[in-house]
Amino acid sequence: MRTKITDIATYLPEKVVTNDDLSKNLDTSHEWIYTRTGIESRHISSEDEVTSTLAIEATRKLMQQSSIEPMDLDAIIVSTTTGDTRFPSCACKVQGAIGACRAFAFDVNAACAGFIYALAVADSMMKSMKLRKVLLIASETITKFVDWTDRSTCVLFGDGAGAMLLEATENGDTGIIATKLYANGEDEKYNSILAHNGEQNGNRGYITMAGRTVFKYAIDYMAMSMKEILDENNMSMDDIDWIIPHQANRRILESMCKMRDFPLDKVIITTQEHANTSSASIPLALRDALDKGKVKQGDTLLFTALGAGLTWGSAIVKI
Ligand code: COA
Repeated sequence: MRTKITDIATYLPEKVVTNDDLSKNLDTSHEWIYTRTGIESRHISSEDEVTSTLAIEATRKLMQQSSIEPMDLDAIIVSTTTGDTRFPSCACKVQGAIGACRAFAFDVNAACAGFIYALAVADSMMKSMKLRKVLLIASETITKFVDWTDRSTCVLFGDGAGAMLLEATENGDTGIIATKLYANGEDEKYNSILAHNGEQNGNRGYITMAGRTVFKYAIDYMAMSMKEILDENNMSMDDIDWIIPHQANRRILESMCKMRDFPLDKVIITTQEHANTSSASIPLALRDALDKGKVKQGDTLLFTALGAGLTWGSAIVKI
């Protein structure tokens, strides 16, 4: 049995904020942000929108475009690091909103690598528990956790959600081929280079980051995990149609390709319109690439991401 991604829908908040908009209230410029990150604009959730709102919107779209009924779902797994409340989980809120009362539901938190973690968890559970249909969502309102006076972090992030239907298939040619996860939280330095700290911001804390250090780890660790997952599965970059990485920063992806001799023309990049939407960024990029006719049914995709923790990992999926 294989786990196949059979459909995907996304939701982006209506409000779009450009770099020029940010520069009206912050000592920054479009030129600075664009040349260092590739970001031109980002979607920002309104005060009324929380992470579960985005997750539910993406799920409703998925339900409309696929033939799936809420009662068909065996489980709902949400990747998020920005849940509305410590508990209940965002997944339980989605389950209640759509009336998927047969489904069990829980959240996965692995920061920006959360989608790959949640995909691996869903795949394993589908196999071990013989689940047939699982709703996998990555939803984030990370802009609610930035200090809008800190120009070194606030310009980098955006909000969004992607909802995927995972179905068990007996067709061994498609689906999730492999997943590989890593974490390193042992060393203090890993916990301090990218975190969410303090009790300000209504007890939510703010994102703090050592940008240059994160930049370096993102390149090294994403490249290492892609190489290891390909080697372990006797595959090479020639077997991959598209790399869909976490969309933190265009320059990270360009530098990684240049330094490791990866094909940049195989990399899906949506940072310009979405910015860094944490764990939602890979589903958002996949939907965008499908809509633009880049990714096609039958393509083999390599997902990779790095996030706070540090957490990182990769997945190979034939869609
Ligand atoms: N606008 C204008 N100037 C800014 C700025 C902004 N938004 N943010 C920082 N600066 C300034 C700094 O204050 C510093 O000024 P100084 O030299 O007078 O002290 C200067 O720009 C350089 O800062 P630095 O942090 O060294 O810049 P950088 O070239 O490393 O770029 C990042 C900063 C954040 C874009 C870059 O380090 C990066 O992309 N890191 C990875 C971040 C990331 O993707 N994190 C998420 C991973 S999941």
